Amino acid sequence: SAASRAPEPLPLDAVDLTDHDNFTDGELCWRMFDTLRREDPVHWQPEAAPGSGFWAVTRHADIVRAGRDPDTFTSTRFTNLEEVDERHRETRRSLLETDGPRHRAMRRLLQQQFTPRAVATYEVFLRGLTARTLDAALAKGRFDFVQEVAADFPVNVLARMLGVPGHDTRRLIDWGNRIIGNTDPDYADVLLGTAESELYRDLPFRSPAALEVFAYGRELAARRRGAGGDDLVSRLVNRMPSDGMPLSARDFDNYFLLLVVAGNETTRHAVSHTMLALIDHPEQREKLRRDPSLMPGAVEEFLRWSSPVHHFRRTATRDTELGGRRVAEGEKVVLWFASGNRDEAVFDDPYRFDVTRTANDHLTFGKAGPHFCLGSSLARLELRVMFEELLPRLSDVRLTAAPRYVRSNFVNGLKTLPVEITSA
Ligand code: HEM
Repeated sequence: SAASRAPEPLPLDAVDLTDHDNFTDGELCWRMFDTLRREDPVHWQPEAAPGSGFWAVTRHADIVRAGRDPDTFTSTRFTNLEEVDERHRETRRSLLETDGPRHRAMRRLLQQQFTPRAVATYEVFLRGLTARTLDAALAKGRFDFVQEVAADFPVNVLARMLGVPGHDTRRLIDWGNRIIGNTDPDYADVLLGTAESELYRDLPFRSPAALEVFAYGRELAARRRGAGGDDLVSRLVNRMPSDGMPLSARDFDNYFLLLVVAGNETTRHAVSHTMLALIDHPEQREKLRRDPSLMPGAVEEFLRWSSPVHHFRRTATRDTELGGRRVAEGEKVVLWFASGNRDEAVFDDPYRFDVTRTANDHLTFGKAGPHFCLGSSLARLELRVMFEELLPRLSDVRLTAAPRYVRSNFVNGLKTLPVEITSA
């Protein structure tokens, strides 16, 4: 099961961060990260295309440094590993791949909707939804925790924020899975890196499902335009960004799509990994159940432990230095947040899952740079409510088969988590 002790050392020449198959057992990736942090913390990782590669940044301090310096480490040349040429960058660019004043103006459009106070208004809805989901699953006794509990509720909340009618939520979930799952044959319409994926170079994640999301978003936008609603779509179509430049149709498409995908799988995986951790650490589960006041701190440990996003990428805008390495202008610099979350220089005994851990300076949301996760307060609320509702309902829980991991070096996800739960 999930690592609760430091993983076995791995020789440096066995490290390959580009091979998605190295991210399917919940173990090998942590061994690679440990080796890199120890032996080559800013490591040149070659990629398949001749001459192509990236700097893999694996220590907490270096990740934070690069993340906070967007002038030197820009997001505008894209944030995933894929090489996106100039033309397709323009059609694919969202908030996530915008820097500077335009980024601030775009982010401000929705910032107020994601503050702790704003998301707290969804708590009652969320608690009801979570309770119903749990009751239905627990009645079965044996079930797949990912499918029955974790997979759908994040999108239900987002759908509500976006103003998407409840009966369409299912479609959003499927689109989200297909778009982000483009390295996993179980989800993909088109696998990234195949000849067919070349046809979709102008779409986010090169996913044809993006076209369906765009069409759906535009329909929604047309209905919200000028209608005075206060949901996220209404704000995007009816408010002028603070720099006075309206969102183009494609800006809207990509913003809408980002909102659909960003909070979906990430939150799902945080919840599933947390369940797995609580199965593997019954004493931590008991501690939390006996003292619910530990929950806010425990949520930070859930986030550190689960690390649902392995990395995001930056690109050097000039020749520079990072962690003692010379980085040349134009080179890709990949921030491995998950690795930073196990950095022994920052976390005491990083492979101990400890719900009472304090000073938990995790990188799960990308730390305090300009692209710090917009949905972090929402994700925290979702995790807290889920486990506040789950723990009192549960008397015992065990795995009925080994969990399966998503085949991806980008999201750190569980595809299945077969459990048997005895209700309290
Ligand atoms: C950005 C992780 C939940 C929306 C980010 C980034 C990370 C992240 C690491 C930074 C990207 C970068 O540095 O380039 C997570 C995790 C989540 C989560 C682990 C769940 C546990 C959510 C939710 C939403 C959301 C619920 C709601 C819509 C966004 C958006 C951005 C973002 C819009 C882009 C912000 C910007 O570029 O200014 N997220 N996220 N996320 N996240 Fe999340």
